[in-house]
Amino acid sequence: MSVTWALPFNVKIKPKLGENKVVDEKVYSEIHNKTVENYREFWEGVASELEWFKKWDKVLDDSNPPFYKWFPGGEINASYLAVDRHYNSWRRNKVAIIWEGEPVDEKGNPKEVKQITYADLYREVNRVAYMMREKLGLRKGDSIAIYLPMIPELPIFMLAAARLGVVFTVVFSGFSSDALATRINDAEAKVLVTADGGWRRGKVIDLKGIADRSLEKTQFVKNVVVVRRLGNGVRMQEGRDVYFDEIMRDIPHNVYVEPERLKSEDPLYILYTSGTTGKPKGIVHDIGGYMTLLHGTMKWVFDIRDEDIFWCTADIGWVTGHSYIVFGPLMEGVTEIMYEGALDYPQPDRWTSIIERYNVSILYTSPTAIRSFMKYGEEWVKNHDMRSVRLMHSVGEPINPEAFEWFFKVVGRNEIPFGSTWWMTETGGILISNLPGYLMIPMKPGSNGMPIPGLEADVLDENGNPAKLEERGYLVIKNPWPGMPLTIYKDPERYVKVYWSKFPGVFYAGDYAVKDKDGYFWILGRADEVIKVAGHRLGTYELESALIEHPAVAEAAVVGVSDPIKGEVPVAFVILRQGHEPTDKLVNEIINLIREKVGPIATIDKLYFVGKLPKTRSGKIMRRVIRAVTMNTEVGDITTLEDEASVDEIRKAIQEFKEELGKQ
Ligand code: PRX
Repeated sequence: MSVTWALPFNVKIKPKLGENKVVDEKVYSEIHNKTVENYREFWEGVASELEWFKKWDKVLDDSNPPFYKWFPGGEINASYLAVDRHYNSWRRNKVAIIWEGEPVDEKGNPKEVKQITYADLYREVNRVAYMMREKLGLRKGDSIAIYLPMIPELPIFMLAAARLGVVFTVVFSGFSSDALATRINDAEAKVLVTADGGWRRGKVIDLKGIADRSLEKTQFVKNVVVVRRLGNGVRMQEGRDVYFDEIMRDIPHNVYVEPERLKSEDPLYILYTSGTTGKPKGIVHDIGGYMTLLHGTMKWVFDIRDEDIFWCTADIGWVTGHSYIVFGPLMEGVTEIMYEGALDYPQPDRWTSIIERYNVSILYTSPTAIRSFMKYGEEWVKNHDMRSVRLMHSVGEPINPEAFEWFFKVVGRNEIPFGSTWWMTETGGILISNLPGYLMIPMKPGSNGMPIPGLEADVLDENGNPAKLEERGYLVIKNPWPGMPLTIYKDPERYVKVYWSKFPGVFYAGDYAVKDKDGYFWILGRADEVIKVAGHRLGTYELESALIEHPAVAEAAVVGVSDPIKGEVPVAFVILRQGHEPTDKLVNEIINLIREKVGPIATIDKLYFVGKLPKTRSGKIMRRVIRAVTMNTEVGDITTLEDEASVDEIRKAIQEFKEELGKQ
């Protein structure tokens, strides 16, 4: 069945951009083709702009695909690139991070602001690296887990680990104790770094309490370092837990820890992300390739300059923050904003006041944030001066053309470059995007633009042939790129199976996409069982596993359905065990269980009780069918369904729910 997509394929907007940077897409394609033909030489040029301890022997080792190695023989250190290089230059006293805490005073002004220069960062990263080596005994190849809120210690610990070649895994502070324990166990983390709490929308998150519960389920962690964010006195376990300020107290201010000369293809970090089945996958990123991609994209996508104030509104717990708060911007010597809390706390103009106060010039945010600003209304933007903003991008999920147009008008003055950068945890950095710092093609609201130089992407049909233009297919990447994963941690077979087997020889992203007649890409959303809730990536499988842990639940299916603000929200269908009644109390109990097992980000939007679930004859739940019924769209082919009555069950449950709502 072919579907032609009703997207605004023909709307083109030329941004105001100097130096003849806006080019016709045909011009871009020609130049792009050349970079793809010689992609090794092309990336070699980009890598040459970084500082290596030793140059590579070869650009790419492709002798064992898909386990590619970029710049083998090269020696490098990400912490050196992000910190030492600037410390040794005029940027030494330049502000690296302007950190703003969430709490405000009676007048609504932030209570805490810290300006951290590159010299400060250099000193702290060295001191923490020293502490990790001398007091915690960490060495190259060891691993640690970091479970911190958005406070300066988070990038400092990441950079200190990178300095020593200690592999780190950051766990988003919105994940629960079970999720944290799974990641600690898989990564075999020896040390956990956490805090006595964090602020989120005016509420305290009890990170230490959650961490303690997770440590009951792990045996790897020997030491826990606790950063005092709140100073509220948490339970500390003698011999295991230590406060960060106490362990750092006697470490001199001028210690120097020589950055390890690491191999380009050594692991920098592991970041866990959700897939279709099974436990989260530990995506392992290298150093040399990853930093090369970040350097290129900081220039092409963000057009980064020394005078900029850069603000990426993501949380460092996700890949966007790893790449575009920590390693990318700091490698480029940028001054950036790091904000601790919710963008609309205590009022919907928190984010606009941050832009105004610091004269933010480059803004990187998400469609969910944009849609919620849109809901609050234009007046919250108009009361602030936004003229410092010269370039914007969004990330994490598709942006609907309406949200694009609103933001472009209200913040972008209908003139500045604005794009939707497509990438994923696995790709390390941005791969499909408008490129105002390179050559920019006219913008199309809702489109991602074209692949970055050196990268060959395409949209394939089910048989692996190029999909027809303007028809939906699967997004693939056809050549290796720096920043690609080394593997899935401890599971190379799964790496091959998930990404390199659907279409042999090419990387399968798991996204639906269309390419239009001008060659623009439009990424439409996940083609698998992954859902994006407010841009956060969750596996329906993880939610279902948590649901069936409730004693009343016999079977469960979770699907993602459209939501006007969050993009998608999880909706659950549950079959109860005999002897259990579908009460409101039970609904609350089950929803709370999910929050506890996965985290508050995974809150189920609606829960329906049903007698049957649509399944294939082999017993596989047909989520596609459930989703279609829930969203009231075409159910499609159901010939493989075991029992058609199950579809009516879903319909009935939704209908009854609506009637119930109507009565209230
Ligand atoms: O579905 C795509 C969507 O986010 C997925 C990757 O999620 P994650 O690994 O959490 O990384 C998010 C931040 C890089 C993709 O498979 N996605 C990301 N950016 C876009 C997008 N979908 C459409 N447009 C985008 N700009």
